[in-house]
Amino acid sequence: MRVDYKILEANVPFAKSIIWDINRTYYQEAGLSAWSEGTVPHNMTSNAYVGKTYAGLILGFLKDIAQKSLSKIEKIYIIELGSGHGRLAYHILSQLDYLISLESDVLPPYCYILTDIVESNLSFFEQHHQFQKYLENGQLDVAFFDGTASNELILKRSNITISHQSLQHPLIVIANYFFDSLPNDLYFVQNGKSTPCNMTVESYQDIDKETPTAFLKYLKTTIHKDIASKNQEKDLFVNQLLLEYCALLKETYLLIPKTAIQCITLLRSLSLSGIMLLSIDKGYAAITDLEGRPEPEIIRHGSFSLYVNFHALGRYCDECKGTKLFAASGDASLQMACLLMVNSPSDYTETFKAYDQYVTDFGPDDYNVTKKLLYRLVKELTLLELITTIRLGFYDSTLFLQLLPFIKKKSVSMTTDDRTHLSDTLHKIDHAYFDINEPISTSYEVAGLFYDLGFSPRRTRYFRQNDTCVR
Ligand SMILES: C[S@@+](CC[C@H](N)C(=O)[O-])C[C@H]1O[C@@H](n2cnc3c(N)ncnc32)[C@H](O)[C@@H]1O
Repeated sequence: MRVDYKILEANVPFAKSIIWDINRTYYQEAGLSAWSEGTVPHNMTSNAYVGKTYAGLILGFLKDIAQKSLSKIEKIYIIELGSGHGRLAYHILSQLDYLISLESDVLPPYCYILTDIVESNLSFFEQHHQFQKYLENGQLDVAFFDGTASNELILKRSNITISHQSLQHPLIVIANYFFDSLPNDLYFVQNGKSTPCNMTVESYQDIDKETPTAFLKYLKTTIHKDIASKNQEKDLFVNQLLLEYCALLKETYLLIPKTAIQCITLLRSLSLSGIMLLSIDKGYAAITDLEGRPEPEIIRHGSFSLYVNFHALGRYCDECKGTKLFAASGDASLQMACLLMVNSPSDYTETFKAYDQYVTDFGPDDYNVTKKLLYRLVKELTLLELITTIRLGFYDSTLFLQLLPFIKKKSVSMTTDDRTHLSDTLHKIDHAYFDINEPISTSYEVAGLFYDLGFSPRRTRYFRQNDTCVR
């Protein structure tokens, strides 16, 4: 069938393309359903294992701050950018609670700030029953923050404004699967010269007849090199970076996270002591990984995503006299970056130790590789082996749901030890589960399995919330 495409825009600089507006409007329109209906993937970057990793790094940082002679009363703020569903925050807060409970030293108080540009996501966070404890004790707050435009945060619960240099302590910033939601610039490097790239966007549907939730799939995008461009890059750092890339790389397409760098610069300015930026995304940190890249693929799933140029963010960290920590990534190319853009970064020895332990030795990307191995072997695993793999993932609910049919099969005949082990694991899965209104509720499945096994499921969260419900 022949499809007639209509040009929506022709030859527009990549970072100014309409696709970024469509992406943004998609999130605003879809709200929580972007994740509860499974359209935008989030498990790989927001599972319980990832939560534990962030919590370990934050704990290291809190220990470093405790050793400094800064005020012991001022809270350390942890800002999560583009929090979306809130599941990552729940994992981090509960794991951090647990890790701190094991420490004998007094650590500084902290407050985690969930942010987004989508007001309905912010309301969801404020009303969520699993967040109430943290909201009430001041460990959690909520704020609107637009990575392309905001220059301060007004915390909705405490009514505190965080603006230029209002903080003494360094700020912790979490950018989880976030930087590719901000416009990126695109360049083509060849023979020591960089050329900016433009984009033409066509569609076979009228934009005003379709909602952004459905629109992205009708688009055809074409990248052009803007050979005639005479515009020199005005941002001094980006200009310098492009010169370096021209000297180091032979031929490649390069995404340049200029807007992300402006956002990080703004966040740095909120504290007198700088920031620790923690970021997970698919992307490249080594210069060798940037060589020979084809035109970037715009991966569509309701919204779209791109690979993040972590190398450029690392170079920005160097410019700020910071210390950057990256680990070798596995086949999923999931990076966990820790950029310490603080005064005297070499003092942060507990943070370095935590990065070695939680990322370099075995990190979120290694966990993803292990899960692939597990799915390949799952039919051969015993009940005890299935339970062990769930424990390895810190009781993550998605892994549990994927293994559930096999657990049910294997639990037809069990030893008493197996039953105790399984029951203990089910309670922990129920505790680790953060409800985002998905069609299949982990709490419901946990309660159902308890029931099938002849246990009283009444102690599970599902029955606590739906007391009259009988399965
Ligand atoms: C790919 S989702 C990631 C959600 C979550 N962080 C995760 O890891 O699954 C991007 C999030 O960034 C938000 N977002 C998009 N544009 C933004 C902007 N300019 N400033 C702040 N947040 C933005 C979206 O609403 C969405 O919640």
